This record gives sequence, structure tokens and C-alpha cells, in this order.
Amino acid sequence: MTINIKKCTLEDSRKLQEISIETFTETFGQQNSPENMNAYLEKAFNIKQLEKELSNMFSEFFFVYVHHEVAGYVKVNINDAQSEEMGEESLEIERIYIKSRFQKHGLGKYLLHKAMEKAMERNKKKIWLGVWEKNENAIAFYKKMGFVQAGAHSFYMGEEEQIDFIMTKTLI
Ligand SMILES: CC(C)(COP(=O)(O)OP(=O)(O)OC[C@H]1O[C@@H](n2cnc3c(N)ncnc32)[C@H](O)[C@@H]1OP(=O)(O)O)[C@@H](O)C(=O)NCCC(=O)NCCS
Repeated sequence: MTINIKKCTLEDSRKLQEISIETFTETFGQQNSPENMNAYLEKAFNIKQLEKELSNMFSEFFFVYVHHEVAGYVKVNINDAQSEEMGEESLEIERIYIKSRFQKHGLGKYLLHKAMEKAMERNKKKIWLGVWEKNENAIAFYKKMGFVQAGAHSFYMGEEEQIDFIMTKTLI
């Protein structure tokens, strides 16, 4: 398998929209109503919103390619781009998604290591993320990668309030 990582630019907004919608729908479509899903997809992944995020100097997106296909992506935030006030010593993994047919081949770990590399380059002490309490697959993955639960916060899927566990990993 030939794997490459590429940092996304503003020109990647359409590609980013495609993979964001595809992977979010694959992951959460079964457990959420079509109304809440559509409301979330429209709000989070419209082109204007994605362009704004791609232009934020405190956010970075990376695609992982398998051969020439985008197989997944990660979004990391620092400073005030973080979705919670976690301080300047933290880096947030806001999104990490691998297309279902590419899962369990080490690509999630590859993107996580990219996020860790970014955090260490910037002398961060901690990586953190929010994960839906019902997303057992991702929680198991994060635990395997050394994250521990450190709290919870609310997340809105359309009108529905859901609980996200906050998980953190200290970098040494
Ligand atoms: C969670 C996700 C990113 C993991 O990526 P992945 O490519 O499937 O995982 P990897 O193959 O890199 O696995 C890395 C390690 O975690 C382990 N792992 C992965 N999923 C696991 C699971 N469900 N249970 C237990 N261990 C798991 C692997 O066995 C592997 O262990 P190893 O290092 O000993 O070989 C991916 O499954 C995904 O995109 N899921 C849907 C989207 C999602 O839920 N994103 C998170 C939103 S918060």
C-alpha cells in the first residue's frame, strides 16, 4: 500500500467537503435521524465554512492518500481555534476520519502520529479530543493509542444535545 500525507490548502475545499460528508455519514448515519444529520452536514461542511477553517492560521487539515485516493483526513487546532479553552499548551484533534473500506490498516494511527508530530514541533504538552460517548470504535482506538478520559462536553447534532467524552494524551 503506497501511503502519503498532504497538508490541505484552500484549493482542497471541495475534496475536503466530499470526504467530510462521506465519512461523517458512514460513521453516524445509522445512529442519528436524517433531519439531524442533514442539519449538521449543511452547517459543518458547507464550502464557506470549510474555507474559513482552511484559512485559520491555528488550524491544519491533512489528507492521507492511498495510491491516488483520499482515504481519510485529520484536522488539528491550536490556540483559540480549539473548540474548548484548553490553553496554549494543548493541541486538539477535532476530526480524524478514515473511509470505512480503509479502516484497520494503520491509517488512523498514521494520522494520529502526524498530529503528535505537529504538537511536538510546537512544544505542546498535551493532545486532546472530544468523542461521542456512543462511538465505541473510536473510543477503543484512542485508548489503544494511549488516551485517557478526562471529562465530557456537549455537542449538538442538529437540535439534539449529545455527550462527548474528552480524552487526553500527555506528550513526553
Ligand atoms: C477511529 C479510526 C480513526 C481509527 O482508524 P483506523 O485506521 O481504523 O485504525 P488503525 O488501523 O490505525 O488502528 C491503530 C491501532 O488501534 C487499534 N484499533 C483500531 N480500532 C480499534 C477498535 N475498534 N478496537 C480496538 N482496537 C482498535 C488497532 O488494532 C491498531 O492497533 P495496533 O497499533 O496494535 O496495530 C477509524 O476507525 C475511523 O475513521 N472511524 C470512523 C470515524 C470516527 O469515528 N472518527 C472519530 C471521531 S471522534
